[in-house]
Amino acid sequence: MGEEMKSQRLNIGIIGCGWIAEYAHIPAFKQISDVKISSVFDIDIGRAARLAKAHDIQGIYSSLNDFLDSGIDAVIVATPNHSHAQYTMESLRRGLHVICEKPVAIRAGDVKQIIEIAEQNQLVYFPAFVNRFRYDVLKMREFIQSNRIGEIIHVEAGWLRRSGIPRPGTWFTNKALSGGGVLIDLGSHMVDICLMLFGDKQPLSQNLDTVMQESKADPLDAGWFKGEYSVGLPMDVEVTAISEIGFSGSSKLNLKLSWAADINGDCTYFIVKGTKGNIKLKTLFGFSNDKLWNEDSLIVEDSAGVEVITLDNSINNAMEAFHAMGQFFADTIRGGATRYLTGSDGLRTVELIEKLYSNENRIDRETAINDLEGLRFE
Ligand SMILES: NC(=O)c1ccc[n+]([C@@H]2O[C@H](COP(=O)([O-])OP(=O)(O)OC[C@H]3O[C@@H](n4cnc5c(N)ncnc54)[C@H](O)[C@@H]3O)[C@@H](O)[C@H]2O)c1
Repeated sequence: MGEEMKSQRLNIGIIGCGWIAEYAHIPAFKQISDVKISSVFDIDIGRAARLAKAHDIQGIYSSLNDFLDSGIDAVIVATPNHSHAQYTMESLRRGLHVICEKPVAIRAGDVKQIIEIAEQNQLVYFPAFVNRFRYDVLKMREFIQSNRIGEIIHVEAGWLRRSGIPRPGTWFTNKALSGGGVLIDLGSHMVDICLMLFGDKQPLSQNLDTVMQESKADPLDAGWFKGEYSVGLPMDVEVTAISEIGFSGSSKLNLKLSWAADINGDCTYFIVKGTKGNIKLKTLFGFSNDKLWNEDSLIVEDSAGVEVITLDNSINNAMEAFHAMGQFFADTIRGGATRYLTGSDGLRTVELIEKLYSNENRIDRETAINDLEGLRFE
């Protein structure tokens, strides 16, 4: 890092040439100046070759060694979850900066080791918590940091889809390869943002109720997320996760997540109650267009009254956030960014998710539906 890097073009390599690489990371990095995606690696060389051809990428590798040696400065790890920690460690050991897709690891012990390696080698490492770069999340954080609503007492948050299981029957819904279901998938983002909102407060207690998919006849898969992927792996992960997390200072988080909820559309929400006021965010993270709400909004209620911000979807969307995250990665490597997102944010999230799964309690769908019906925004 430092002066030498500041003027230098960054060459970035991608490990895992699937959906997120093609539809999010590559388009985002293409918009960033002095950065080039120059090498790709995949265990399926056909996928690597196809992606490289579509985006004019010169380096196509089936050997990890050759890929890591191909003159790149940094990598994006975008493989199935179970392999994230291993690829991150190998890349850092070879002197490369890393941004890793969520979850950065299945076990917190691995993340601790990764952070150590990154620090020893003075390399940038952080999780691809892209939603932190959304306009609505940044705005919500700004209100909380400026003490508009006082100390946080209670957060209700959720990300619910009515038909959004990512490719049933692939690695995504197989516990050995994914590490879990909706909690580790959508939950990685939501847990990270909630921990950020709670600031210094530590999670002290947690419980988790989960629901498995009952009918295989209608897999409720995510329409925007298809591909030639069906490999018939057992689907053994939860589709709904409902949890309560107690924090120091007697504050509490209620988190609801579902890939297959009985609601009329998809939504992401945060209701943040503070000692001096409340913030309500109605939005939708991710790539689904099946929206529950017509209009996204951020509402602040405090002693001064009610302020309603209608969110403009041309700037408040997933691709803008990927672009901002890519820019943050390049800036951090060049030594010019804040420490808004670091490896320890990944560690806190993996630690909490690991604890939640160790307290997992299976409930039936009917019980979960009653709980989700408790979602009343207005
Ligand atoms: N932030 C988001 O909005 C978002 C959205 C989708 C996926 N993701 C994350 O991105 C990651 C990838 O998801 P995806 O949808 O692109 O998956 P995908 O299945 O479409 O792509 C994975 C790619 O990795 C390759 N691969 C599989 N095992 C490998 C291995 N051991 N070594 C090297 N390559 C391997 C596959 O051939 C495939 O090309 C996941 O961790 C997922 O959680 C994030």
